[in-house]
Amino acid sequence: MAEVKAERAAPTPEPALRRLNPRRDLDAVLDFQYEVYESNFPGFRVDRRFRDGYGRDLRRAARDPREVLFVLEQDGHVCGFAWGALMSTLVNARVGYIKNAYVAPHLRGTGQAARLLAAVEHWLFDQGADRIMLDASVCNGRAVGFYEKTGYVVERVRMVKRVVPTDDLRGPS
Ligand SMILES: CC(C)(COP(=O)(O)OP(=O)(O)OC[C@H]1O[C@@H](n2cnc3c(N)ncnc32)[C@H](O)[C@@H]1OP(=O)(O)O)[C@@H](O)C(=O)NCCC(=O)NCCS
Repeated sequence: MAEVKAERAAPTPEPALRRLNPRRDLDAVLDFQYEVYESNFPGFRVDRRFRDGYGRDLRRAARDPREVLFVLEQDGHVCGFAWGALMSTLVNARVGYIKNAYVAPHLRGTGQAARLLAAVEHWLFDQGADRIMLDASVCNGRAVGFYEKTGYVVERVRMVKRVVPTDDLRGPS
């Protein structure tokens, strides 16, 4: 009887984590921004103009010593991205800011987003930042859940009220 060997699928290698190379990675990272921006700003549509401007921002950030860009790469494809920057506030001269975080859908819930975020956080800490801030949209429950689980807490709240032109708002004539 012929020996039948069970064929095992090769395990998918863990994505490589490395600094963004604008020449190689820009298009993939720009493609991610449709989901990032359209899910965090409902009603906003990423168009060519926005994409081109974002590409310029990324190229500038890649040369800026106060900013850091990491990507995940798997099987030759970019599948994750995180962007951090140093900034100043009224009370703190060196604060970290997470400008963007994304992992491809097939990597969500696998810990790769936390790995990316940790790389940015370590870099910011090495640059002298002991606090890191970020903005997230309440409508993006998954992102908020992710940041909460990695240690972020709400410190400021942006409040919004939808106004309709009633007599109360018109004021004295
Ligand atoms: C945001 C993002 C990077 C997080 O990565 P991820 O791998 O999906 O995150 P994780 O699965 O590790 O963590 C999400 C957590 O929120 C929880 N969660 C999921 N949906 C949720 C919801 N609607 N409300 C609250 N928590 C939620 C998950 O259960 C999970 O927690 P758990 O691990 O304890 O179960 C990823 O989802 C992504 O790339 N999203 C699209 C781009 C984006 O919106 N980026 C954020 C810009 S601010």
